[in-house]
Amino acid sequence: IAHMRVGQQLSGKRIIVTAAGTREPIDPVRYIGNRSSGKMGYALARAAAMRGAQVTLISGPSSLPNPPGIIVKRVETTAEMREAVLAEFDTVDVVIKAAAVADYRPALIAGQKIKKDDDNLTINLVKNPDILYELGQRKKHQLLIGFAAETNELLAYAREKLTKKNLDMVVANDVTLPGAGFNIDTNIVKIIHKDGQVDELPELTKAQVAEIILDKIYTLLTKST
Ligand code: CTP
Ligand code: CA
Repeated sequence: IAHMRVGQQLSGKRIIVTAAGTREPIDPVRYIGNRSSGKMGYALARAAAMRGAQVTLISGPSSLPNPPGIIVKRVETTAEMREAVLAEFDTVDVVIKAAAVADYRPALIAGQKIKKDDDNLTINLVKNPDILYELGQRKKHQLLIGFAAETNELLAYAREKLTKKNLDMVVANDVTLPGAGFNIDTNIVKIIHKDGQVDELPELTKAQVAEIILDKIYTLLTKST
């Protein structure tokens, strides 16, 4: 019903959605990862395509199938996700960064499997580039939508991300709430706008949250043209 109501309102718009978590290899058999399933990002990609947008989904490893009618680029590391996003950034209208990006990676990737020789093992991590921050520095006409996954001080941290990364909107979720967060079909989010307005949504399916986020994006696109 929703997609009939909104018809082809995003036709002619190019949208990048990033989804799922990036992984950073430690050695040939192990990696550092996170709990993101990709469900929120895949729902957004699918819903945007239903509204007529030309969608590229740039996804970390996820067990979800490729949504129909969408170009899907599968990546593994943060560096690969960054390359894939930057390759298209100049030609798109909107970037929605739902991916859970690994903030750090091992400074060295062992060429061989690390053996359990020692009682303690220390892996030295170095900071990854912040993809969304870079997009915020580089953006011209593009709308940038970030996510903020928090366990505390949700609004304060989310607002800080909006400002620091030069975003147009932040979707904040408290990942400790039952009914929100990783690998479930529902989410409870607050949408924070540049003018300070906050929309507090109830527990909804990720598909419903995706529709509401796209409604807001449509409003912003209409304002900016
Ligand atoms: N993000 C990104 N590149 C990174 C880290 C995060 O593009 N290296 C993006 C995420 O996709 C998300 C937003 O930035 O849209 C916020 O991610 P989050 O992990 O909540 O915030 P961080 O800025 O990484 O800060 P912290 O993890 O310390 O809360
Ligand atoms: Ca982070």
